[in-house]
Amino acid sequence: MLIKRRRDWEIPEAEATDEAVFLNRRHLLKSAAAGVAAAMGGAALSPQGAEAAAGPPEGDPSINLYPVARNDSFALDRPLTDEAVFARYTNYYEFGTSKSIWREARNLPVRPWTVVIDGLVEQERQIDIDDLLAQVELEERLYRLRCVEAWSMAVPWTGFPMRALVELARPLASARYVRMETFNDPEVAPGQRAGWYPWPYIEALTIEEATNELAFLGTGAYGQPLAQQNGSPLRLVVPWKYGFKSIKGIVRFTFTEEMPTTFWWDVQGAEYGFWANVNPEIDHPRWSQAEEQFIRTESDVGFLARPERRPTLLYNGYGDFVAHMYAGLEERYGDRLFR
Ligand code: MTE
Repeated sequence: MLIKRRRDWEIPEAEATDEAVFLNRRHLLKSAAAGVAAAMGGAALSPQGAEAAAGPPEGDPSINLYPVARNDSFALDRPLTDEAVFARYTNYYEFGTSKSIWREARNLPVRPWTVVIDGLVEQERQIDIDDLLAQVELEERLYRLRCVEAWSMAVPWTGFPMRALVELARPLASARYVRMETFNDPEVAPGQRAGWYPWPYIEALTIEEATNELAFLGTGAYGQPLAQQNGSPLRLVVPWKYGFKSIKGIVRFTFTEEMPTTFWWDVQGAEYGFWANVNPEIDHPRWSQAEEQFIRTESDVGFLARPERRPTLLYNGYGDFVAHMYAGLEERYGDRLFR
């Protein structure tokens, strides 16, 4: 999430940015500097642990539900990323700022796991994850994943349409947004002991987005339940938006009338906002979004890696599914639709 290019960090930003945001960012940059090197360079994936990294959490009772049939409506334009790479090159700030946190994340207990549905709904409720899984139909979908840091992967997710969750929740007519929250357990998740982040991780969608055909709640990948580092037991998958929208480890869905503040918007509002739709023409303030580095195999990660560069696609190539939702919003939000 943090830095890919260092040369833009300097003074002009301070001039252009609200001081509080700037100071906050300085703090983040400082604390993340080590992690950044690791993130795009130093974290060449060590061969040890490749097998331990992939695969479901120990004793995950949902394993019997896998594999499931693929929904072929979502074709890919590239090969899948190797499972072992997907499992070991991850962003999960709750466990640290580097990409190599899978071992720490593996300590997260994912049973029992309760999901709260509250806010503007007919009836607030709590539901056990396995009861939820029994009420939905799982399918496999192949989606591109585009991180705001300009790397990408292609992943075979298992999960269910988010629309099914919204229908289950029965929101009131006044509900316009759905806010999602990650678990908060600093004892298990060392990153959550870092007081400068506004834990827990929060993300949100409009109800229209949440009920779009593409919006998916991921429970598995590569034909088995998700590993903790990839968001077990429940994560969002919204492939037309930058990856930070796809919140992991969800424990709460809250239906609201007001647009909720989200984690990265709160941390660095000048750079990240509510919408975060992928757009090659709207650069991140500190790097270009015109291209992405496609991570497919282990050799695509590390200092000497030269991953394939591909042009970034508007809405990550999913415009036919989603562009209509933003047609009326350009005047009001402008570039903010894309960060
Ligand atoms: N969810 C939580 N709770 N915490 C995070 O740090 N990182 C996000 C997103 N979901 C993140 C999160 C970012 S920046 C990306 S790119 C994707 O997860 C990465 O998903 P993956 O690691 O499974 O590929």
